[in-house]
Amino acid sequence: MFGECGIAASEHSTIPTVTLRSTDGRHSCSIFTYGATILSWICNGEERLFVSKEAILNGTKAVRGGIPLVFPQFGQPNPAMAQHGFARNLVWEHVGSTADEHEVSTLLRCKATPDTLTLWPQDFCLLFRVSLSATSLVTEFTVANIQSNESFQFQCLQHTYLQIPHITTTSMQGLQGRSYIDKMRDAQQFLEEDTTILVDKETDRVYLPANDTSSSSTVNVLDTSTECTLVSSHASCRTSNSLTSSAIEILQGDISVLNVLGVLSSTHENNAGTKDVDVVVWNPWIAKAKALVDLNDDGYFWFVCVEPGCVSSPVSLDTHCIFSLTQTLTIPV
Ligand code: BG6
Repeated sequence: MFGECGIAASEHSTIPTVTLRSTDGRHSCSIFTYGATILSWICNGEERLFVSKEAILNGTKAVRGGIPLVFPQFGQPNPAMAQHGFARNLVWEHVGSTADEHEVSTLLRCKATPDTLTLWPQDFCLLFRVSLSATSLVTEFTVANIQSNESFQFQCLQHTYLQIPHITTTSMQGLQGRSYIDKMRDAQQFLEEDTTILVDKETDRVYLPANDTSSSSTVNVLDTSTECTLVSSHASCRTSNSLTSSAIEILQGDISVLNVLGVLSSTHENNAGTKDVDVVVWNPWIAKAKALVDLNDDGYFWFVCVEPGCVSSPVSLDTHCIFSLTQTLTIPV
């Protein structure tokens, strides 16, 4: 087996953290069940995600760093709901894990609660599957509409904070030719003409899905001082119909990891194919970093957020359908 999975309380909180670890000790990933937030991904002995030194890790605030999940809203279009929705502030349930020679995976689940139904009156089931291998971390966020009478709409995003040597020696490639909404310029739309994107000021952009026929795209994050790719971020989404009534029972009930994975693969088997997604690029820079209570003044040096999701147009999910947003982070060998 490639590795194993454990679950325990951390030094910061009694809310458990799930840890995936390779048998050789070179690779690991930890996931705080508060928000199903990935807090660490170590590949070949090196941490690849940024978590702020000031991050609040006791389950009272969304974590500033790692990979928080944004759902069902991005930003705050509904002012009655928290910025970026409620999924990152709920305690998720650990369903179980699987392993083979190449990877170890774990699955978390979160269902609607009386509080979420007050904020957003929809019956849903969320799943988050995290798979660790020697070169990659695959994170699949799934939304199931388990109600029989109404479709619903949502935005979602994997808010990935990538650790970098320094923001001034970091660039991104793979976004050329895509239109983007620039939240720093009155949300006007522009076309990305540059092959290489540098961050030298507060940056908050939503890159729209590529217009060509590609069903997914890759953003490479590079260290300009060595010309090396630090990480490749690849993402896509798919929507599938017809959850059977026994599949819905499995998703809602006292579930086992193998049963849920069976539901996901059989439901996605006949889907209409994968689609490209939005990519948000965010760095708060000087003034915003100072204003964020859970980030050091120089915290913005050490990360860039490359966040795949569906935010520019909400996903509309019919009754008994599932939607999955998959991010693959790869470290070049
Ligand atoms: C990004 C948004 O995804 O998240 C930014 O595009 C926002 O506008 C940033 O500032 C951080 O959000 P939060 O709620 O985690 O401070």
